[in-house]
Amino acid sequence: SFLHTPLTGRISKQWCDIGFQGSDPKTDFRGMGILGLSNLLYYAEHDRANALQLLHDSQQPKSRYSFAIVGINITDLAYRLLVGGALKTHLYNVAPEMPSIAHFQQTFCYLMQEFHRFWMEEDPRDIMEFNRIRDKFHKMVLKLLRDPDTALCPHFSASDLHMITL
Ligand SMILES: *[C@@H]1O[C@H](CO)[C@@H](O)[C@H](O)[C@H]1NC(C)=O
Repeated sequence: SFLHTPLTGRISKQWCDIGFQGSDPKTDFRGMGILGLSNLLYYAEHDRANALQLLHDSQQPKSRYSFAIVGINITDLAYRLLVGGALKTHLYNVAPEMPSIAHFQQTFCYLMQEFHRFWMEEDPRDIMEFNRIRDKFHKMVLKLLRDPDTALCPHFSASDLHMITL
C-alpha cells in the first residue's frame, strides 16, 4: 500500500494519502506551525498502531475526514486547552514533578483517539459537520477536565516517557 511507498519529494501528491489538502503540506500547517507537525510525528512514532487505525478509518467512505488536517486542528484544540489553563489538573496528575512537551504530545494522541471515537459515534453525514462535532467534543473535554482526578492519557506507560529527552 501507499504506506510502504517512499516519498518522492517534499512536494508530492502522496501527501494527500495521509490527509493533507494538496501536494504541499506546508500550507496546511499554517494555522499551527511546527507544533502541528511535532504532534503528528509523535503520534506516528509513539502511538503507531493507533495512528494507523485512525488513518485507515478516516479513509472509509462512511466516516471520511482528512487525517492530517484534523490532526492539525486537534493540535489547535490541545493548545487552546493548555493556554487556557484547562489542562492544569491533568498535567499535574500525569506529571507531578514537571510536565514536558512529551506530556503535551501524549495528550494530543489521547485527544485524537477520543475525537475519532466521538466522530464515529456522532455518525456525521460528511465533513461539513466538523465544526459542530468539534465544538461538542471541545465542551465534553472541558467538562471532563473539571474533574480533579482527570488524567487524559491512560494508554501510555511510564516507560514511554523515559524515552523522551528534551
Ligand atoms: C479548527 O477548527 C475550528 C472549527 O472548525 C476552527 O475555528 C479553527 O480555526 C481550526 N484550527 C486550525 C488550526 O485549523
